Amino acid sequence: MPESPKPTDPAAKHLIAHGKLDVEGRLVDASNVTLYCSVELDGMCANAVYKPVNGERPLWDFPDGTLAGREVATYLLSDASGLGSIPPTVLRDGPFGVGMVQLWIETSEEELIDVRAPADVPPDWRVVLHAHDRLGDPAVLTHADHPGVRDLAILDIIANNTDRKGGHVLAGTDGRIYGVDHGICLHVEPKLRTVLWGWIGEPLPGEAVEKLRALPEKIYGSLGEELATHLTGLEIEAIADRAEALLAAGVFPEPGDDWRAIPWPLF
Ligand SMILES: Nc1ncnc2c1ncn2[C@@H]1O[C@H](COP(=O)(O)OP(=O)(O)O)[C@@H](O)[C@H]1O
Ligand SMILES: [Mg+2]
Repeated sequence: MPESPKPTDPAAKHLIAHGKLDVEGRLVDASNVTLYCSVELDGMCANAVYKPVNGERPLWDFPDGTLAGREVATYLLSDASGLGSIPPTVLRDGPFGVGMVQLWIETSEEELIDVRAPADVPPDWRVVLHAHDRLGDPAVLTHADHPGVRDLAILDIIANNTDRKGGHVLAGTDGRIYGVDHGICLHVEPKLRTVLWGWIGEPLPGEAVEKLRALPEKIYGSLGEELATHLTGLEIEAIADRAEALLAAGVFPEPGDDWRAIPWPLF
Protein backbone atom coordinates (compact mmCIF):
# COMPACT_ATOMS: atom_id res chain seq x y z
CA MET A 1 0.00 0.00 0.00
CA PRO A 2 1.48 3.39 -0.92
CA GLU A 3 1.85 5.81 2.00
CA SER A 4 0.45 9.34 2.13
CA PRO A 5 2.65 12.05 3.61
CA LYS A 6 1.27 14.56 6.14
CA PRO A 7 0.77 18.03 4.62
CA THR A 8 3.54 19.47 6.80
CA ASP A 9 6.04 16.72 5.88
CA PRO A 10 8.64 17.96 3.35
CA ALA A 11 7.97 14.69 1.47
CA ALA A 12 4.53 16.08 0.55
CA LYS A 13 6.03 18.95 -1.43
CA HIS A 14 8.50 16.60 -3.10
CA LEU A 15 5.65 14.28 -4.06
CA ILE A 16 3.49 16.95 -5.67
CA ALA A 17 6.50 18.52 -7.41
CA HIS A 18 7.86 15.30 -8.92
CA GLY A 19 5.17 12.62 -8.73
CA LYS A 20 3.20 11.13 -11.61
CA LEU A 21 0.03 13.17 -11.98
CA ASP A 22 -3.20 11.48 -13.10
CA VAL A 23 -6.39 13.46 -13.60
CA GLU A 24 -9.36 11.83 -11.86
CA GLY A 25 -12.04 14.47 -12.35
CA ARG A 26 -13.01 18.09 -12.58
CA LEU A 27 -14.21 20.11 -9.57
CA VAL A 28 -17.58 21.26 -10.80
CA ASP A 29 -18.12 24.49 -8.86
CA ALA A 30 -14.76 25.82 -9.99
CA SER A 31 -14.69 28.84 -12.34
CA ASN A 32 -11.39 28.08 -14.07
CA VAL A 33 -10.26 24.59 -15.05
CA THR A 34 -9.64 22.95 -11.66
CA LEU A 35 -8.83 19.25 -11.74
CA TYR A 36 -8.76 16.65 -8.99
CA CYS A 37 -5.77 14.33 -9.41
CA SER A 38 -3.86 11.52 -7.85
CA VAL A 39 -0.11 11.82 -7.59
CA GLU A 40 2.36 9.02 -6.98
CA LEU A 41 6.10 8.66 -6.49
CA ASP A 42 8.35 6.00 -4.95
CA GLY A 43 5.64 4.27 -2.91
CA MET A 44 4.11 7.58 -1.80
CA CYS A 45 0.72 8.77 -2.98
CA ALA A 46 -1.67 11.64 -2.39
CA ASN A 47 -4.43 13.58 -4.06
CA ALA A 48 -3.89 17.00 -5.55
CA VAL A 49 -5.56 19.95 -7.23
CA TYR A 50 -4.15 20.81 -10.66
CA LYS A 51 -4.99 24.10 -12.38
CA PRO A 52 -3.38 24.28 -15.81
CA VAL A 53 -2.43 27.81 -16.94
CA ASN A 54 -4.18 27.02 -20.24
CA GLY A 55 -7.49 26.69 -18.40
CA GLU A 56 -7.34 30.19 -16.88
CA ARG A 57 -9.97 32.72 -17.81
CA PRO A 58 -8.17 36.07 -18.28
CA LEU A 59 -9.05 38.77 -15.72
CA TRP A 60 -8.82 42.45 -16.69
CA ASP A 61 -7.73 43.50 -13.19
CA PHE A 62 -4.93 40.90 -13.00
CA PRO A 63 -3.17 41.41 -16.35
CA ASP A 64 0.32 40.37 -15.16
CA GLY A 65 1.56 36.84 -14.61
CA THR A 66 -0.78 33.88 -14.20
CA LEU A 67 -3.33 32.84 -11.59
CA ALA A 68 -1.32 29.64 -11.09
CA GLY A 69 1.78 31.74 -10.40
CA ARG A 70 -0.14 33.83 -7.84
CA GLU A 71 -1.26 30.65 -6.07
CA VAL A 72 2.37 29.52 -5.84
CA ALA A 73 3.55 32.99 -4.77
CA THR A 74 0.95 33.12 -1.98
CA TYR A 75 2.06 29.68 -0.80
CA LEU A 76 5.72 30.83 -0.80
CA LEU A 77 4.77 33.94 1.17
CA SER A 78 2.84 31.92 3.75
CA ASP A 79 5.55 29.29 4.03
CA ALA A 80 8.41 31.79 4.43
CA SER A 81 6.55 34.12 6.81
CA GLY A 82 4.82 31.46 8.90
CA LEU A 83 1.52 33.37 8.47
CA GLY A 84 -1.42 31.05 7.84
CA SER A 85 -1.13 27.58 6.33
CA ILE A 86 -1.47 26.76 2.65
CA PRO A 87 -1.08 23.18 1.38
CA PRO A 88 2.25 22.68 -0.47
CA THR A 89 1.81 24.29 -3.90
CA VAL A 90 4.16 24.15 -6.90
CA LEU A 91 4.27 25.18 -10.54
CA ARG A 92 5.03 22.19 -12.78
CA ASP A 93 4.14 20.40 -15.96
CA GLY A 94 1.08 18.16 -16.08
CA PRO A 95 -1.18 16.34 -18.55
CA PHE A 96 -2.63 19.69 -19.77
CA GLY A 97 0.60 21.64 -19.62
CA VAL A 98 2.19 23.82 -16.95
CA GLY A 99 0.00 24.62 -14.01
CA MET A 100 -0.22 24.84 -10.26
CA VAL A 101 -0.37 21.60 -8.34
CA GLN A 102 -1.45 21.68 -4.71
CA LEU A 103 -1.71 18.88 -2.16
CA TRP A 104 -5.34 17.89 -1.46
CA ILE A 105 -6.25 18.31 2.22
CA GLU A 106 -8.49 15.74 3.89
CA THR A 107 -11.02 17.73 5.89
CA SER A 108 -12.83 17.13 9.17
CA GLU A 109 -16.46 17.99 9.94
CA GLU A 110 -15.45 21.03 12.02
CA GLU A 111 -17.48 24.08 11.03
CA LEU A 112 -15.64 27.38 10.85
CA ILE A 113 -17.75 29.78 8.79
CA ASP A 114 -21.52 29.83 8.36
CA VAL A 115 -24.66 31.85 7.78
CA ARG A 116 -27.00 31.27 10.71
CA ALA A 117 -30.06 32.59 12.49
CA PRO A 118 -28.81 34.97 15.25
CA ALA A 119 -30.01 32.57 17.97
CA ASP A 120 -27.86 29.76 16.51
CA VAL A 121 -24.55 31.63 16.63
CA PRO A 122 -22.25 30.06 19.24
CA PRO A 123 -21.36 32.65 21.94
CA ASP A 124 -17.65 32.66 21.10
CA TRP A 125 -18.12 33.06 17.31
CA ARG A 126 -17.48 36.37 15.53
CA VAL A 127 -20.30 38.09 13.68
CA VAL A 128 -19.31 39.70 10.38
CA LEU A 129 -22.58 40.85 8.88
CA HIS A 130 -26.29 41.05 9.70
CA ALA A 131 -28.61 40.30 6.79
CA HIS A 132 -31.88 38.62 5.98
CA ASP A 133 -32.45 35.25 4.37
CA ARG A 134 -34.74 34.62 1.39
CA LEU A 135 -37.81 34.55 3.63
CA GLY A 136 -36.90 37.87 5.26
CA ASP A 137 -35.76 36.30 8.53
CA PRO A 138 -32.60 37.69 10.15
CA ALA A 139 -29.39 35.85 9.30
CA VAL A 140 -25.78 36.54 10.21
CA LEU A 141 -22.51 35.77 8.51
CA THR A 142 -20.36 34.39 11.29
CA HIS A 143 -17.10 32.54 11.83
CA ALA A 144 -15.27 30.71 14.58
CA ASP A 145 -12.83 32.61 16.83
CA HIS A 146 -10.12 30.11 15.95
CA PRO A 147 -6.39 30.96 16.06
CA GLY A 148 -5.82 29.15 12.74
CA VAL A 149 -8.56 31.14 11.05
CA ARG A 150 -7.30 34.38 12.60
CA ASP A 151 -3.81 33.65 11.30
CA LEU A 152 -5.24 33.08 7.82
CA ALA A 153 -7.06 36.44 8.11
CA ILE A 154 -3.68 38.09 8.76
CA LEU A 155 -2.10 36.32 5.80
CA ASP A 156 -4.99 37.60 3.66
CA ILE A 157 -4.27 41.20 4.67
CA ILE A 158 -0.62 40.80 3.66
CA ALA A 159 -1.39 38.80 0.50
CA ASN A 160 -4.22 41.24 -0.36
CA ASN A 161 -6.54 38.30 -0.96
CA THR A 162 -9.49 39.36 -3.05
CA ASP A 163 -11.46 36.09 -2.75
CA ARG A 164 -11.47 34.54 0.74
CA LYS A 165 -14.78 32.73 0.51
CA GLY A 166 -15.99 30.35 3.23
CA GLY A 167 -15.17 27.39 0.97
CA HIS A 168 -11.54 28.53 0.78
CA VAL A 169 -10.95 27.82 4.48
CA LEU A 170 -10.45 24.13 5.22
CA ALA A 171 -10.30 22.35 8.59
CA GLY A 172 -7.75 19.58 8.02
CA THR A 173 -8.06 16.18 9.70
CA ASP A 174 -4.61 17.02 11.16
CA GLY A 175 -6.23 19.80 13.22
CA ARG A 176 -4.69 22.64 11.17
CA ILE A 177 -6.60 25.27 9.24
CA TYR A 178 -5.63 25.59 5.56
CA GLY A 179 -6.39 28.30 3.03
CA VAL A 180 -6.91 27.42 -0.65
CA ASP A 181 -7.62 29.22 -3.94
CA HIS A 182 -5.15 32.10 -4.00
CA GLY A 183 -5.22 32.91 -7.73
CA ILE A 184 -6.35 36.49 -7.22
CA CYS A 185 -4.00 37.67 -4.51
CA LEU A 186 -1.01 40.02 -4.36
CA HIS A 187 -2.30 42.94 -6.43
CA VAL A 188 -0.64 46.30 -5.69
CA GLU A 189 -3.92 48.13 -5.02
CA PRO A 190 -5.97 47.42 -1.88
CA LYS A 191 -8.62 44.80 -2.69
CA LEU A 192 -9.03 42.72 0.47
CA ARG A 193 -12.27 40.79 0.04
CA THR A 194 -13.01 38.19 2.68
CA VAL A 195 -15.58 36.60 4.95
CA LEU A 196 -13.08 36.84 7.85
CA TRP A 197 -13.84 40.35 9.14
CA GLY A 198 -14.55 39.18 12.69
CA TRP A 199 -11.56 40.85 14.41
CA ILE A 200 -11.75 44.46 13.14
CA GLY A 201 -10.00 46.91 15.48
CA GLU A 202 -8.53 44.20 17.71
CA PRO A 203 -4.78 44.08 18.43
CA LEU A 204 -2.72 41.67 16.35
CA PRO A 205 -1.56 38.62 18.31
CA GLY A 206 2.07 38.95 19.51
CA GLU A 207 3.17 35.95 17.45
CA ALA A 208 1.86 37.55 14.26
CA VAL A 209 3.64 40.80 15.11
CA GLU A 210 6.96 38.92 15.29
CA LYS A 211 6.32 37.25 11.94
CA LEU A 212 5.39 40.57 10.33
CA ARG A 213 8.51 42.28 11.71
CA ALA A 214 10.67 39.61 10.10
CA LEU A 215 8.89 39.75 6.75
CA PRO A 216 10.29 42.85 4.92
CA GLU A 217 13.86 41.55 5.25
CA LYS A 218 12.74 38.25 3.67
CA ILE A 219 10.92 40.10 0.91
CA TYR A 220 14.10 42.00 0.07
CA GLY A 221 16.10 38.73 0.31
CA SER A 222 15.65 35.19 -0.94
CA LEU A 223 11.84 35.14 -0.67
CA GLY A 224 11.70 38.15 -2.98
CA GLU A 225 13.94 36.36 -5.47
CA GLU A 226 11.62 33.33 -5.49
CA LEU A 227 8.57 35.55 -5.87
CA ALA A 228 10.12 37.34 -8.85
CA THR A 229 9.33 34.28 -11.00
CA HIS A 230 5.62 34.92 -10.45
CA LEU A 231 5.10 38.60 -9.58
CA THR A 232 6.17 42.05 -10.75
CA GLY A 233 8.69 44.09 -8.74
CA LEU A 234 5.94 46.47 -7.65
CA GLU A 235 3.79 43.58 -6.46
CA ILE A 236 6.68 42.22 -4.39
CA GLU A 237 7.41 45.64 -2.82
CA ALA A 238 3.71 46.04 -2.04
CA ILE A 239 3.86 42.94 0.19
CA ALA A 240 6.55 44.55 2.38
CA ASP A 241 4.57 47.82 2.40
CA ARG A 242 1.42 46.05 3.58
CA ALA A 243 3.37 44.27 6.34
CA GLU A 244 4.83 47.61 7.53
CA ALA A 245 1.44 49.34 7.40
CA LEU A 246 -0.22 46.55 9.38
CA LEU A 247 2.53 46.65 12.01
CA ALA A 248 2.18 50.42 12.31
CA ALA A 249 -1.58 50.11 12.76
CA GLY A 250 -1.20 47.23 15.23
CA VAL A 251 -4.84 46.18 14.81
CA PHE A 252 -6.98 44.27 12.30
CA PRO A 253 -8.06 46.77 9.62
CA GLU A 254 -11.57 47.63 8.58
CA PRO A 255 -12.75 47.43 4.97
CA GLY A 256 -12.04 50.40 2.71
CA ASP A 257 -14.79 52.32 0.89
CA ASP A 258 -13.56 51.83 -2.65
CA TRP A 259 -14.28 48.18 -3.27
CA ARG A 260 -16.65 45.38 -2.32
CA ALA A 261 -15.22 43.88 0.88
CA ILE A 262 -17.26 40.67 1.08
CA PRO A 263 -17.06 37.99 -1.62
CA TRP A 264 -20.15 36.76 -3.42
CA PRO A 265 -21.11 33.99 -3.31
CA LEU A 266 -19.98 33.72 0.30
CA PHE A 267 -18.95 30.05 -0.09
N1 LIG B 1 -5.89 21.70 -1.68
C1 LIG B 1 -7.17 21.41 -1.48
N2 LIG B 1 -7.54 20.47 -0.59
C2 LIG B 1 -8.84 20.15 -0.38
N3 LIG B 1 -9.86 20.76 -1.02
C3 LIG B 1 -9.56 21.72 -1.92
C4 LIG B 1 -8.22 22.10 -2.20
N4 LIG B 1 -8.23 23.07 -3.15
C5 LIG B 1 -9.52 23.28 -3.45
N5 LIG B 1 -10.33 22.47 -2.72
C6 LIG B 1 -11.80 22.40 -2.77
O1 LIG B 1 -12.22 22.56 -4.13
C7 LIG B 1 -12.99 23.75 -4.27
C8 LIG B 1 -12.65 24.42 -5.60
O2 LIG B 1 -11.27 24.75 -5.62
P1 LIG B 1 -10.78 26.25 -5.83
O3 LIG B 1 -9.32 26.30 -5.59
O4 LIG B 1 -11.64 27.17 -5.02
O5 LIG B 1 -11.07 26.41 -7.40
P2 LIG B 1 -11.45 27.71 -8.28
O6 LIG B 1 -10.20 28.50 -8.45
O7 LIG B 1 -11.86 27.19 -9.60
O8 LIG B 1 -12.54 28.43 -7.50
C9 LIG B 1 -12.65 24.57 -3.04
O9 LIG B 1 -13.68 25.46 -2.68
C10 LIG B 1 -12.41 23.52 -1.98
O10 LIG B 1 -13.63 23.06 -1.43
MG1 LIG C 1 -12.73 28.88 -5.52
